[in-house]
Amino acid sequence: MSNLTANLITIDGPAASGKSSVSRELARKLGWKWVSTGAFYRGLAYVAMKEGVAPTDTAQLVRLAHSGVWSVRLDEDQTRVFYKKDDVTVEILSEENGTRASKVSQIPEVRQALLENQRDCAVGVTGLVAEGRDCGTVVFPQALLKIYLTASQEERAARRAREHGLNVQETQNSQQKRDQQDSSRAAAPLQIPDDARVVDSGGMGLAEVVEKVYSWATQAMAQSVKSF
Ligand code: DC
Repeated sequence: MSNLTANLITIDGPAASGKSSVSRELARKLGWKWVSTGAFYRGLAYVAMKEGVAPTDTAQLVRLAHSGVWSVRLDEDQTRVFYKKDDVTVEILSEENGTRASKVSQIPEVRQALLENQRDCAVGVTGLVAEGRDCGTVVFPQALLKIYLTASQEERAARRAREHGLNVQETQNSQQKRDQQDSSRAAAPLQIPDDARVVDSGGMGLAEVVEKVYSWATQAMAQSVKSF
């Protein structure tokens, strides 16, 4: 990891806080790659379900994490997941699979098994925007800029429900459970990195959030060139 020369920006936060949309736009403006690290957990959870592996079976989950039966690809518009040649990017994004992903992500051995592939996303690129729950604390603690993006529970549930055509109250209940699980786990819980800037996107449009983070990014890059 110490050999990494890519510029790194991390965006962490709870479910449906807008991390993917902000990361995608920010990366586009910077001409960098972006990765949703949640796709690794969602992908593994989905593949485990398809292969009949229980979300609590550590040994089998670790085996699957390293198997060639599935893969992740960074595209400009999405972090894509392939399972046996099928593009399952849409399938993994369901709220149900998010709950499964949260479950497998509790297991330290699973997190460890997925970590290297997440870090590899920063190899051979000029810059990377990485979003998830532990990007600033564990995956890329050396990042140039760390953002913690949040919004009220109600706004986040309404956003996700609108995007997926779901019931708002049911979505809120499911997200609440998932946030609680992601924040209280022992291994790499969702937390605000010490050196992060917190953005509450409540009442802000996407363009406004991206503009704010972009200006911090350009400042941080100018600063790092100066101190180099
Ligand atoms: O960001 P997301 O909703 O796609 O993430 C799905 C689940 O994956 C989330 O509930 C917890 C887990 N996750 C994680 O533990 N660490 C990350 N860096 C990203 C996601």
